[in-house]
Amino acid sequence: MFDGEQSEAARQSMEILVALGKIYGAKNMVPVSSVQVAGVSYKTIGDAGLEYLQGLAQNGAKAKVPTFLNPAGMDRRQWQRLGIPEEFAKKQIAVLDAYEAMGITMSCTCTPYLIGTRPKLGEHIAWSESSAVSFANSVLGARTNREGGPSALAAAVCGVTPNYGLHLDKNRISTMTVKVETELKRSADFGALGAFVGEAAKGRHPSFVGVTKANEDKLKALGASMAASGSTALFYIQGITPEFVVSDSPEKISFTSHDLAVTREKLGTADKPELVSIGCPHASLEEIHDVAEFVKGKRLACQLWVCTAQQTKEKADAAGYTGTIEAAGGRVVADTCMIVCPIEDIGFKTTGANSGKAAKYLPGFCKQKVSYGDLEELLWFK
Ligand code: F3S
Repeated sequence: MFDGEQSEAARQSMEILVALGKIYGAKNMVPVSSVQVAGVSYKTIGDAGLEYLQGLAQNGAKAKVPTFLNPAGMDRRQWQRLGIPEEFAKKQIAVLDAYEAMGITMSCTCTPYLIGTRPKLGEHIAWSESSAVSFANSVLGARTNREGGPSALAAAVCGVTPNYGLHLDKNRISTMTVKVETELKRSADFGALGAFVGEAAKGRHPSFVGVTKANEDKLKALGASMAASGSTALFYIQGITPEFVVSDSPEKISFTSHDLAVTREKLGTADKPELVSIGCPHASLEEIHDVAEFVKGKRLACQLWVCTAQQTKEKADAAGYTGTIEAAGGRVVADTCMIVCPIEDIGFKTTGANSGKAAKYLPGFCKQKVSYGDLEELLWFK
């Protein structure tokens, strides 16, 4: 591949992987079982990114291993209903066409582990999106660095990634423990914990003690928020994650009910959001069910988007959850999310979220005022 015997795209891709391996001192390449590629929304990659992808596709780039996409800038099936500008839609379709020409599966989601791609403990993968990376490393025990879009694509084309960073056990040791001294109930609580600890961890791998209950939805909320506030790519929770690897003398911090209240307040207090967006990371079927139950028989006075993977939406459609949410005036939106979709161009100025990651990115990335809280605090009805 390095010598260009397979294709020009494979040569370019291997050149990227070898250069990365040299920078980080990798001794070898390691095969990966799946790849998740970020850099899909036209909003984030622009014309330069589109041209790069089209060039790679023209040079014969083909994914060698199962490869999936991060959320795009719009729902491919209902972008007109959502008010996406046509010019944007044309460019977004061109981006997706380039990826499709490379043999990449057209599922645009940051939760590939909810739609059937669940790497096992110790399995090497090359994923990009920060919350997906955190979930894969921490909750599934897989091995991945946080890849950039080009390096993930290169791994897809070559089927390998340089063996450094979080692929090596010696780099997966936690040097910091967090004693959670308050009860965490809702996703917004876990998002607040993530925002607090991410800032303190600054890229280290925190280990939590004192968290007694956390299902996968809460764990994805925690990981996403820590990744956004502190680039955390791996965490452990005693008794919950499959591994718990702590150094002999870790730094210790606490998270109290006071910290929870202050952090929730910091994440956003705007009044009456025009749009409430749930599903960062992309919602599970259970989360869509919970939203449907909450809005059943009511009429929303704000817009509501529940962002999810297309495959999960199809299940929600079949179960009647989408119908219930639409009857209340909300939408189940696939393939995209409130951050990588140009919601500011649709006209929204104030957005409500129950996700620490969304709350962190909405102001800078989407020019939004933010309201942070749980469903019952965010939604308002006629
Ligand atoms: Fe996923 Fe978008 Fe949040 S990519 S983690 S829903 S910002």
